[in-house]
Amino acid sequence: MKTILFLAGDGIGPEITRETRKVAQALKDGLSLDLAFDEALIGGAAHDATGNAFPDETRARADAASAVFLGAVGGPKWDHLTGAASLERVALLGLRKQLGAFANLRPVKVFPQLIEASTLKREIVEGVDMIIVRELIGGIYFGEPRGLRTTGDGHQEGYNTLVYSVPEIERVVRAACTIARTRDKRVTSVDKANVLEALRLWREVATRVVRDEFPDITLDHLIVDNAAMQLIRSPKQFDVMVTTNMFGDILSDAASMLTGSLGMLPSAALNETGKGMYEPIHGSAPDIAGRNLANPLASILSLAMMMEHSLGEPQAARRIEAAVHGVLDAGLRTADIMSPGMKQVTTAEMGDAVVAALAVRVSQAAS
Ligand code: IPM
Ligand code: MG
Repeated sequence: MKTILFLAGDGIGPEITRETRKVAQALKDGLSLDLAFDEALIGGAAHDATGNAFPDETRARADAASAVFLGAVGGPKWDHLTGAASLERVALLGLRKQLGAFANLRPVKVFPQLIEASTLKREIVEGVDMIIVRELIGGIYFGEPRGLRTTGDGHQEGYNTLVYSVPEIERVVRAACTIARTRDKRVTSVDKANVLEALRLWREVATRVVRDEFPDITLDHLIVDNAAMQLIRSPKQFDVMVTTNMFGDILSDAASMLTGSLGMLPSAALNETGKGMYEPIHGSAPDIAGRNLANPLASILSLAMMMEHSLGEPQAARRIEAAVHGVLDAGLRTADIMSPGMKQVTTAEMGDAVVAALAVRVSQAAS
């Protein structure tokens, strides 16, 4: 029996998590998957209920689960929590660290049905299918020393440390190469080796790992500013991109706009054993929370990644993806991806439509 822990969190988190759980339940029933569901508090919701945005109880349930689903964390209500107490650091970075989830997979795939939603020209984005592998529990987000201090001449200064050890670089490069083997076997490593020692080392280690362990993979290197430019100039050149925590944060937001639809992009964060946490990349969107407007498809596609990477159910993953394509082909759109001639639906209607699209396939397979 495998357990999925659902952490709904804040903002639109509970609404999209509800739809995702519906889909999980339908697959469990339809495919007789040996799955159990659990839930716990995280983020602002946990802070308000317990005084801690990542309570021990949630920590223990995350450890016990086979995979963790996270809706979203944060909102203006908790903006007064800053520095080491910020919700993002306590709940989100805390959960990533707790799970040891060092490899953040952020696929960027343009849906043909939504191509007009991109701000870029059709010929630039049509057919984009890449994945960013972002290092997630090291680098400047976690490096010590960090903090605020007062200098000898009385000025306040803030400081952070960008640090990467050889094993930290090796494991994320290996993860990227392993994924590349299931795709086009090309990896682009993004660094700032011309300025930063830590990332000079990054480049050396990436080169060695690929040479010694993945001779079938083609590796090239880009400096981060050039990578940002290339992403917008000709994104189809990329297959797998591997990079540091902070560069991956920035480049994945930029890359998401190739698709024009933040509401469609899932993510996974995996540890050494393949256990992971799964979340839509769009965040808590407090402005539309509670209004049945949010797009649950990024969440539902994150469940597909979970089925594939942590639950050993690639067939279930393919069914979810096919169902999502089915509802888009049928013209259903939430507000964020609405365009003329399509049918606008609510969060719950979209979830139900995906479930219905699954059920057709489930019963077809059964007959
Ligand atoms: C992300 C987010 C987080 C990050 C924030 C909310 C801390 O931007 O998952 O990309 O920087 O990692
Ligand atoms: Mg980000």
